[in-house]
Amino acid sequence: MGIVLGIESSCDETAAALVGPDRAIIAQRIASQDEEHRPYGGVVPEIAARAHVERVIPLVEATLADAGLRLADVAAIAATAGPGLIGGVMVGLVSAKALALASGKPLIAINHLEGHALSPRLADPELAFPYLLLLVSGGHCQLIVVDGVGRYRRLATTIDDALGEAFDKTAKILGLGYPGGPAVERMAAAGDARAVPLPRPLLGSAEPHFSFAGLKSAVLRAKDAAAYADADIAAAFQQAAIDCVLDRTSRAIAAAGPVTALVVAGGVAANQAMRASLGALAAASGLRFVAPPLALCTDNAAMIAWAGQERLAQPGFAPDPLDIAARPRWPLDPDAAPVRGAGVKA
Ligand code: KG4
Ligand code: ZN
Repeated sequence: MGIVLGIESSCDETAAALVGPDRAIIAQRIASQDEEHRPYGGVVPEIAARAHVERVIPLVEATLADAGLRLADVAAIAATAGPGLIGGVMVGLVSAKALALASGKPLIAINHLEGHALSPRLADPELAFPYLLLLVSGGHCQLIVVDGVGRYRRLATTIDDALGEAFDKTAKILGLGYPGGPAVERMAAAGDARAVPLPRPLLGSAEPHFSFAGLKSAVLRAKDAAAYADADIAAAFQQAAIDCVLDRTSRAIAAAGPVTALVVAGGVAANQAMRASLGALAAASGLRFVAPPLALCTDNAAMIAWAGQERLAQPGFAPDPLDIAARPRWPLDPDAAPVRGAGVKA
């Protein structure tokens, strides 16, 4: 067992990290593309792919230099192989393949969602399987029982928008620019959530899933009505989103079977109000609550390197072949039943 180099490039962050088997993050660098995408109010896939091409190799070299290491010193190279914007994923994965080929080190192709799902164990050595994971990011909103490495049971997903997407669209409606989540959270802190009535889609529903499209449309109508302060709209949106998340999560706690903890991961897990509410729900349910530090919640390469460490530690570990393909879609639980919104009528 040795140090794993991780590479992440599935969205708008190019990142590299070196993580030890003892959970030490030896070095990590993240090059954000916020400036490139800001004029468009969202991530432009072609611009993202080009930016990854320019940055990934210099970033890996700089990360190794920060640690005073060479490629020959690492035990394996882990890279995001999907899901995500396919151009960016291909850039990171093909770079990892080239480094693996040149150095003779094993390649480990990581599911980006698995990176998020296992990131809490990087931050918290005590966190044992199985745990209930709320994975909330720009592209996903899922409740998953993590039974072990590579063993995931999806209990719920969104039938329309991801939660981070809802934050980003609310930011756009309020003219807060990109990236939206942190801006909405800052503005919400100055607002009164009770001042604007907003819906809570699927609250109390027997169906386990999430829905945020109706909430987003209601935010748009509230803004168009020109009757409310922007800060109140932001606060009301955030509270409605949190109410939905709490309702769906408590339903999942009841359905999950025995778990050691409630865990939140993904970019939206950086939201302090969300973390506080989930912590309270866990306490009320007699569960430990684990939320990784903010820098491990948003996209990063340390979580990819750590997922590589977890894979390396599995009995019967086998490296991935160098011709493994990048995947735009890659569900963590391929056996999960399809939901309405995914071509299924309900
Ligand atoms: O996990 P992540 O970095 O990238 C994806 O894999 O999608 O998540 C990014 C998402 C964005 O939608 C962003 O607006 C949201 O996480 N986000 C937040 C906060 N920080 C990031 N949403 C709410 N509050 C925040 N503080
Ligand atoms: Zn992510």
